Amino acid sequence: TDAPAHRITGKTRIYGILADPIHHVKTPEVMAEVFARHGVDAVLIPFHVKPEGLATLVSGLKAMENFGGFIATVPHKPAMLGLCDGVTEEARNIGAVNCVRREADGRMVGTMLDGIGFVVALRTVTGFEPAGKRAYVAGAGGAACAIAFALADSGVSHLTIANRTIDKAEALVGRLRQAHPGLSLSTDAASVADHDLVVNGTSLGMKEADAPPLDFSRLSAGQVVADAIMDPVMTPLLKAAEAIGCRIQRGLPMLQCQIELMAKHMGAIA
Ligand code: ATR
Repeated sequence: TDAPAHRITGKTRIYGILADPIHHVKTPEVMAEVFARHGVDAVLIPFHVKPEGLATLVSGLKAMENFGGFIATVPHKPAMLGLCDGVTEEARNIGAVNCVRREADGRMVGTMLDGIGFVVALRTVTGFEPAGKRAYVAGAGGAACAIAFALADSGVSHLTIANRTIDKAEALVGRLRQAHPGLSLSTDAASVADHDLVVNGTSLGMKEADAPPLDFSRLSAGQVVADAIMDPVMTPLLKAAEAIGCRIQRGLPMLQCQIELMAKHMGAIA
């Protein structure tokens, strides 16, 4: 952005984003706009930390009195679960943390907003209400799990989890069933056509040579098709879905829609 940099003084509150690698992160710029819009004297700074240094850094940040919290991204989300002093139900269900508030006494409280960001984007950017609808999620890793739990929380009528490694799909279905005993669930990868919403939660589509995450020939124009991948902006799945006439949702809105939620969790805005 061309916005002037925030003037840092002794009163400025400090926030961070922890990642490895770090150079590609967009959150400092995006969060600077949120802080400016809310008139908050704060900055969010990139912290490059390797997995083996994460515990040391987090324990050091507990001692930093003007530090308000941080966002954790790849590869730190699962490890952060065990490094927090308290976590929300979302984080416990998903088994990962992507946003941490540092309380006045130094306690670190973690939450997981990826899935909620995805559903907020569905509702506000794509104009699709998942309640009562049938949803298909490809993948059973971190991203897919966060999206699946948020869809279950938002009241879908059926959820299919399709994954290369069936054991992981079945394990995720088991955890979803525990949290939502009445929900209709399956692991049938071939049932794409039978859903209102189709989501790619795998990493397939990031690289040119990747296999398709699901059978594109089973898509039809009435479906909403979403991808959690942000780079490239248009994955092969989204291109195929658009050509068929589906409504599509790119990966970026999932991040954009959780920025304000992150600022709130960290106590930066009301
Ligand atoms: P993320 O945190 O980005 O979700 P992850 O937890 O490693 O990353 O999950 C990656 C997902 O992409 C998994 O569902 C993985 O399938 P497996 O559980 O079978 O590993 C899926 N995935 C990655 N590469 C794949 C490939 N070549 N073919 C099929 N699925 C693949």
